[in-house]
Amino acid sequence: MAKLGTAGLVFVTVFAGLLWCVHGQLEARTLFSQWKHEHNRRYKTDDEERARFATFQDNLLKIEKLNAEYSGTEFATNQFADMSGDEFRSKILMRPLPPPQHPRERYLRADGEVNDLPEAYNWVDHGAVTPIKDQGSAGSCWAFSTIENLEGQWFLAKHPLTNLSVEQVVDCDDNTDPKTGNADCGVFGGWPYLAFQYIKRVGGIEKEEDYPYCSGLGGEKGTCFPCPAPAYNASMCGPAVSYCNETESCGFRLDKSKFIPGLQVTDWAAIDTNETTIAVQLMKIGPLSVALNAVLLQFYHRGVFEPHFCDPKSLDHAVLLTGWGVEKTIFGEKKPYWIIKNSWGKKWGMDGYFYIKRGVGQCGINTQVATAILQKT
Ligand SMILES: *[C@@H]1O[C@H](CO)[C@@H](O)[C@H](O)[C@H]1NC(C)=O
Ligand SMILES: *[C@@H]1O[C@H](CO)[C@@H](O)[C@H](O)[C@H]1NC(C)=O
Ligand SMILES: *[C@@H]1O[C@H](CO)[C@@H](O)[C@H](O)[C@H]1NC(C)=O
Ligand SMILES: *[C@@H]1O[C@H](CO)[C@@H](O)[C@H](O)[C@H]1NC(C)=O
Repeated sequence: MAKLGTAGLVFVTVFAGLLWCVHGQLEARTLFSQWKHEHNRRYKTDDEERARFATFQDNLLKIEKLNAEYSGTEFATNQFADMSGDEFRSKILMRPLPPPQHPRERYLRADGEVNDLPEAYNWVDHGAVTPIKDQGSAGSCWAFSTIENLEGQWFLAKHPLTNLSVEQVVDCDDNTDPKTGNADCGVFGGWPYLAFQYIKRVGGIEKEEDYPYCSGLGGEKGTCFPCPAPAYNASMCGPAVSYCNETESCGFRLDKSKFIPGLQVTDWAAIDTNETTIAVQLMKIGPLSVALNAVLLQFYHRGVFEPHFCDPKSLDHAVLLTGWGVEKTIFGEKKPYWIIKNSWGKKWGMDGYFYIKRGVGQCGINTQVATAILQKT
């Protein structure tokens, strides 16, 4: 090395750096091609291709940083790998809002029932959960969360497990809560507690096969362009979609004669933020609708999700709580987590599911827990 001198050293360093860059670029190109193939992605123009590749490269770096920062969680590329963080937030998540507070009498308590909780429990093992769905690029998570809670309630009322219609809720639910300014806004977001009230008001729900999901599904599966729900309120929801197709909308598609006989929502309940209470109620009631701040979930792959900072008062995603468990780390520590069903397809996360730290109000997961109450049959 001494013989090289300073100039030589600088040269070698620059050359190595350049090589590394070229190599990094090549590797990113290969990864991008593989990724496009796997996710069946094609871009309309070369400009778009270039821009998407640049975003993909940024995301590779982001993922590398996340993996270095969090030893207990693995992050990886997935269907969102060509989306910037801003695009992910605006297309997939909802506008972040604080958790609504409900009147005291809404909340279920769990006094004196906490002693017999098992270390782990999961409603998936008890047949109360349908397969993982994919919301596509629409802010319709809240309708999935609502419907999946209802599927569990229907099953636990001793009926066969049935896929219920998410699209009915996305297209038809125009419920609002003037006290909080919250509203159900189709592909622009909504709240499960308001959707339970909508299903109660309209008198039932169709099956998925009778009123299938289509919003936000581009490509092969076909997509649809439903018009906003009948009383869509633009001052609460923001401007409506710029294009819509009347025959793909609630007015044309809703068929009350296809409502599942006997399935009536009579009311809904909230569960307070105490995570022991949530576990007790989960076991007693069934899978529960929950919400969280999901900004850092974009590249989640596996493990217990526990970001250092994640605003619990800024909810932008609704999902289904199906169970809990405890992870034993190599140091013999026990890390309690919740098991959550997401609506981003089976390839995302752990076959569509994720774990999130339990007992610390992580990302607000305990702040908007709710369930429908069905008429007894
Ligand atoms: C529900 O839909 C899925 C496809 O998304 C299908 O595989 C499943 O058989 C359907 N029925 C039930 C009861 O899960
Ligand atoms: C829409 O919401 C605003 C704000 O809550 C309310 O003042 C207005 O009356 C609503 N419009 C309609 C047509 O319901
Ligand atoms: C509107 O939707 C119907 C039903 O899916 C479809 O047949 C029709 O081609 C659509 N119209 C337009 C203009 O896209
Ligand atoms: C949560 O509820 C349990 C059971 O009622 C109680 O023992 C515990 O102290 C509560 N935790 C908090 C943080 O209030």
